[in-house]
Amino acid sequence: MDDLNRRQILELLGASFGATVLPATAVRGEAARPAAPTFALPAPPVRPYTRPARPVTAVIIGHGSRGSLYGSFALKMPEEWRIAGVAEPIDYRRERCAADHSLAADRVFTTWEQVFERPRLADVAVITTQDRMHFAPAMAALERGYDLLLEKPIAPSWEECRAIYRKVVERNAIVAVCHVLRYAPYFVQLREVIASGIIGDVVSIQHLEPVQHLHMSHSFVRGPWRRKDESTPIILAKSCHDLDLLCWWTGRRCTRVSAFGSLTKFTAANAPAGAPAHCLDGCPAEAACPYHAGNVYVHKKTWGTYHIVTPDRSAAGILAELRKGQYGRCVYHCDNDVPDHMVTNLEFAGGITTAFSLEACTSYGGRRTRVMGTLGDIVGDEELLEVTLFAGGKAVWDVTQAAADLEGHGGGDLRMVRDLVQAVAQRDPALLPTTLQRSMESHQMAFAAEESRLAGGAPRTVDLAL
Ligand SMILES: NC(=O)c1ccc[n+]([C@@H]2O[C@H](COP(=O)([O-])OP(=O)(O)OC[C@H]3O[C@@H](n4cnc5c(N)ncnc54)[C@H](O)[C@@H]3O)[C@@H](O)[C@H]2O)c1
Repeated sequence: MDDLNRRQILELLGASFGATVLPATAVRGEAARPAAPTFALPAPPVRPYTRPARPVTAVIIGHGSRGSLYGSFALKMPEEWRIAGVAEPIDYRRERCAADHSLAADRVFTTWEQVFERPRLADVAVITTQDRMHFAPAMAALERGYDLLLEKPIAPSWEECRAIYRKVVERNAIVAVCHVLRYAPYFVQLREVIASGIIGDVVSIQHLEPVQHLHMSHSFVRGPWRRKDESTPIILAKSCHDLDLLCWWTGRRCTRVSAFGSLTKFTAANAPAGAPAHCLDGCPAEAACPYHAGNVYVHKKTWGTYHIVTPDRSAAGILAELRKGQYGRCVYHCDNDVPDHMVTNLEFAGGITTAFSLEACTSYGGRRTRVMGTLGDIVGDEELLEVTLFAGGKAVWDVTQAAADLEGHGGGDLRMVRDLVQAVAQRDPALLPTTLQRSMESHQMAFAAEESRLAGGAPRTVDLAL
């Protein structure tokens, strides 16, 4: 009686995909609309779930923000997922992991190379180092016979993505690329509406990723993703999720892209008069500037402090680090070069057109999507989905009413690890909802979009030559 079907598991997670038909209100930010007939949205298929005979074990390569999150799931579902080792150079992070998961000293390493010098010590290697440090540990892990939980982006160049793909095929490894939105109930439901055919054939999609100005300033101005040469182009680092969603929703191959974008707001030209290089060196604009580091991270706490590296997590410790460190820099005096706005037009096979915008200058987050079909349309904002049929009928579905456990990318993070556990325990990659090859399509689209942007929008073909 160990077998549970996927529906039961979703129920354990508190999820139910049946459409919650609300009064015909409107998607956030839209004007209210008159009442209209309602109908139930099609429910995503239920996939079988089998409790693993033993927990799938993992070694975490890079116990930072993502690595520690994936590790924490072992405490939530110890019968399915167990952390068996860690490699992390920052002492307090490594020690935290060892303590949380009761790791013996010989399972705790300061760098990934040490892990792969040894015989395989777990089923899965969780590759959660920074963008430019995925390739080498991923290849070493595959060589040692590990399956992978591989953070996106797969790698910063198409050649490296392809080398990983070939190694995965050669080793017959199971790989989940962390395109976590594919597992999130909202996006699963949106895809199901499209796949059901009720809005007819998809003609066009308009998709907006509002990065949110503080998120931009933290990650892409001060943080690790601020420079393309040290990380990856923002269209890959931030938006490979969105490009992957477009592939999934259209169900087609992307054929051509054209992109424009630049860095407009977070530049020296916009620095307040007299602003010093570090906010805490007496910035005259402190009261008016939403990015003053002392206020953002300590006094007003408008953004999180996880990425600020210091063993002293007290306010005093964070402030001391801000006085000299990268997160204390004036956002107008950083060495960032990735665009803060970018529009990408993508053509898919069959003539489907999609327009994608990445925008830093928004006060809100939450992806906004409009899908235009031959028989109806969808408007969504990562919480509500409004589906309207041209022949009559409207449904409004609210993910917060339909599913629970929506922490972490709308609940995608945890559900992805559960699916990986299924796939590894049963040695069946089909138990994952997507493949490495599919994930690579989004990367190829991102590389082509960046090339087009740098060429002033000149169209680029997308050719998935593996
Ligand atoms: N799937 C998503 O939606 C999502 C969201 C955020 C970040 N990411 C990606 O996840 C990855 C990690 O991001 P993060 O925010 O956790 O970064 P992070 O900086 O918090 O974590 C990376 C960790 O790797 C460690 N590290 C550095 N050198 C190492 C070495 N030689 N051996 C082992 N570990 C080493 C660092 O000390 C750090 O703790 C990035 O590639 C990022 O783009 C994905």
